[in-house]
Amino acid sequence: MDLIIRNGTIVTEREMFKADLGVKDGKIAVIAGDLSDLPCENVVDATGKLVLPGAIDAHTHLAFPFGGTVSSDDFFAGTRAAACGGTTTVFDYSGQAKGETLLETAKRREAEANEDGPAVDYALHVGITDLSNNLLDTMQEAVDYGISSFKVYMVYDFGVKDGDFYQVLQKSKETGSLICVHAENKEVLTTLTEQFAAEGKLSPWYHYASRPEFVAGEADRRAIAWARSLNAPLYIVHMSDKEGVEAVTAAKDEGLEIYMETCPHYLHFTRDVFKREDGRNFVCSPPMKGQESLDALWEAVKRGDVDTIATDHCPFQQSEKDWGKDDFRKIPNGCAGVENMYPYILSKANEGVISFPRAVQICAANPARIFGCTQKGSLTVGKDADIVIYDPTKEFTVHQENMHSDSDHTIWEGLELHGYPVQTYSRGRLVYDNGAFVGERGWGKLIKRASRK
Ligand code: URP
Ligand code: ZN
Ligand code: ZN
Repeated sequence: MDLIIRNGTIVTEREMFKADLGVKDGKIAVIAGDLSDLPCENVVDATGKLVLPGAIDAHTHLAFPFGGTVSSDDFFAGTRAAACGGTTTVFDYSGQAKGETLLETAKRREAEANEDGPAVDYALHVGITDLSNNLLDTMQEAVDYGISSFKVYMVYDFGVKDGDFYQVLQKSKETGSLICVHAENKEVLTTLTEQFAAEGKLSPWYHYASRPEFVAGEADRRAIAWARSLNAPLYIVHMSDKEGVEAVTAAKDEGLEIYMETCPHYLHFTRDVFKREDGRNFVCSPPMKGQESLDALWEAVKRGDVDTIATDHCPFQQSEKDWGKDDFRKIPNGCAGVENMYPYILSKANEGVISFPRAVQICAANPARIFGCTQKGSLTVGKDADIVIYDPTKEFTVHQENMHSDSDHTIWEGLELHGYPVQTYSRGRLVYDNGAFVGERGWGKLIKRASRK
C-alpha cells in the first residue's frame, strides 16, 4: 500500500463505520476492519476522526470574464483553495466564445487550465451562448470528448433566448447530456433595474430589490415546463428561493428528472446582507432572499429534494466590488466560496442539522452520479483516493488570512465552524495538511465524464 489510514470512521452516503482504508496507485485498494498486517511506509492514524470522500464542487467560475473584469481565481488558485477546504474536484463553467464550437471551448479551457496548473482534478461544463452556425450539431462531439453537461443562462448579455434554451434541451436528449440552467427572468429584472435607476435607487440593496423571489421563481417554473414537455432532464443551478424549491419539489413528485443545486450562501445569509456597509461584497446573482426562502432551502436539504450543494465560486477583488459602491449595476456578480462549502456543510452535520452521510451525499456522491464522474464521489474500492480526514473537535473561525484563494476578502469572515478538515488527499497524494496547502501546481487533471446514454 502507498497509504493506510487507520482507526478512522468511514463515512459513505449511507452509513458510518470504523475501518482502515488502504490506497495503492491513487485508488482506494482496500477497506477492512484491521490493516495493521499490511506493509506500508505511510500510515496515518485517524483515531477520533472521520474519513470522508473529497467533495465535488459542481459550480465554479475560474478566471471567468464578467462585468468588465475576470474572476480572481484561476485554475491553480481556485483548486488550491478547494483542496484546503476538502474539495477534490471542481467543475468550471467555461463560456463559449462567439463562433466557437462546444468542443473548441472545452479544449481552449483545458489548455488554459493546464497553463494555470490545477492543484486538484477538474471537469468542465460548457456554457452555451451562441447557437449560430448549427452550433448544436457540435454537441455530440463535445459529449464524446467527456463534456456531458452544458449550461444556459436565462440572464446576462451572454444568456440565450427562450427558443434557444428549448432547442438546447431538445439536443441534450439526443446526445445524452444534461443541461444546467441559471433561471431568472431577464426582462423583469431589467425593467426593475431601470425603474430603480431612474429613481436614483442604486445601493446594493437594489440589486436584491430588482431580483426578488418571483423573478427567480417564475423562471424556475418556465424552465421546468419546457423540460417536462420534452421529458428532458434538467439541473437548476444555485437555487435561492422558496418558489423555486416548491416548483422543483412538485416536479420531482411528478416523476420528472429535475435536479436542484443550492449554495452555502443561500443557506446562511438573507437579503439583509445587502443593507450592510459591505453589502456590495455579497452581490451575486441570484441574490440572497428572505428568511422564508432560507428556511425552505434547509427543509429541502433535509428531506432530500436538494440534490447537490455547490458554491458558484466567482470571486472578485475588493477594488472591483468597490466600482459599484454607489451603483449596484457596476458590481461584478459573485463571491468566493470553494474553500468554505464542505467545512460549512460538515459543521452543520456536526451540529446535528443533517447527518454526515447526507452531507457526503449532497457534496460528493450526488454530483459524481449526476454528472457522470464515475471514478469520484465515494469511498469505495476502485475509486480515486480523494479523501478528507475531518476532526469533529477542531474549532475553526474563517478569516481572510486563513483562506487560500487569491481573493482579497471573504463574505464568510468570522464564521465559526465546529469541526474542520485536517488533511485532504487527491488521488492518494496529500494536498492539504492542517492549515497548509502542500499540493503541487499541475497535479490536477481534466476528468472526462460519461454521457447519460
Ligand atoms: O453572481 C454570480 N453567480 N456570478 C457568476 C455567474 C453566475 O450567474 O453563475
Ligand atoms: Zn448563475
Ligand atoms: Zn455560477
